[in-house]
Amino acid sequence: MEIQLWRSILCPYELAVKELIVKFEHIITEHKLNDLYSPIEQVSGRVKSVSSILEKMQRKHIPMERMEEEVEDIAGVRIICQFEEDIETVASIIQNRSDMTIKSEKNYLKHIKQSGYRSYHLIIYYTVDTIDGPKKLQAEIQIRTMAMNFWATIEHSLQYKYKGDMPVHVAERLSKAADAIISLDKEMASVRNEIMDAQNSSQMQSNLVRDILLNIENLYKLSNKREVTKIQDEFLRVFKTKDLKQLERFHRQLDIIAEGYRAQAVSNDL
Ligand code: GTP
Ligand code: MG
Repeated sequence: MEIQLWRSILCPYELAVKELIVKFEHIITEHKLNDLYSPIEQVSGRVKSVSSILEKMQRKHIPMERMEEEVEDIAGVRIICQFEEDIETVASIIQNRSDMTIKSEKNYLKHIKQSGYRSYHLIIYYTVDTIDGPKKLQAEIQIRTMAMNFWATIEHSLQYKYKGDMPVHVAERLSKAADAIISLDKEMASVRNEIMDAQNSSQMQSNLVRDILLNIENLYKLSNKREVTKIQDEFLRVFKTKDLKQLERFHRQLDIIAEGYRAQAVSNDL
C-alpha cells in the first residue's frame, strides 16, 4: 500500500473549514449590519482526526483509495441557530450560494434518530484553491438549535464514556431529556417573535449609537467645540430615555446638521 501523507491529504480540508467558518460568520455580520435578525447564532468547525477517519473506514469497510469520496465528514462545520425555524432558513441560504453545492441531506428533525438525536445535515461540495490548483472536496454541515446542540454534546460524551455500551437507565434518561428538548424548542418557537423583536431593537440601538458617535466625531473636526459639546449632551439625554424612536429622530437631525457643515466646508474651500 502506498504511504499516506496525512498532513498533505488533510491540508485542503483545513483550509475548507477555515473558509467556511469565515463565510458563515460573515452571514451573521451582514445581518447585524442591516439591523436584521441573524438565523445563524454561532459557527464552529473541525477537521476529523486521523484516528477518527481510520476508525470510520474500518467500521464502514472503506478502502484507503475511496477515503476522500466516502468519508464525507473529513471537513465538518456546525451551525447553531436559536430557533428551529432558523434551520430551514440557513439551509436555503446554503442552497442559494454559488460557492457550495449540496450533494445530499439528512433530516434528523423529521426522522429523529433512535438515540433521540435531532439535527439537519448537509453534505456539500466545496472548492478550495491550493498551490496545486483548485481542489473540490466534501464537507458536512450540521445545522441545529442551541437546545439540540446541548443534548447532542452531552449524549456524545456519554457515548464516548460507555463506548457504545450505554446502560439502559442512562439511555432512558437521555431519551427523556430529548423529549424535554423538543418541548423546549417548541416553547421557544412560541415566543420567537418577541425574542426577535427584542434582539432587533438592541442591534438597532447599537448601530444607531455607533453612527451618531461617528457623526459627532466628524462634526468635532468641522464645527465649533461648544456646539459639539451641546450636541453630545443632547445625545446623552436622548440615550437615557431608552426610546429608540427618539434616538432615530436625533440621528436624522444630526445627519442634517452634519450635512450643513459639510456643505459649508466645501463652499469655504471654493
Ligand atoms: P458517522 O460515521 O458517525 O459520521 O455517521 P454517518 O456518516 O453514518 O452519518 P450520520 O448522519 O449518522 O452522522 C453524522 C454525524 O452526526 C456524526 O458524526 C455525529 O457528529 C452526528 N450524530 C449522528 N448521530 C448522532 C447521535 O445519535 N448522537 C450524537 N451526539 N451525534 C450524532
Ligand atoms: Mg461524523
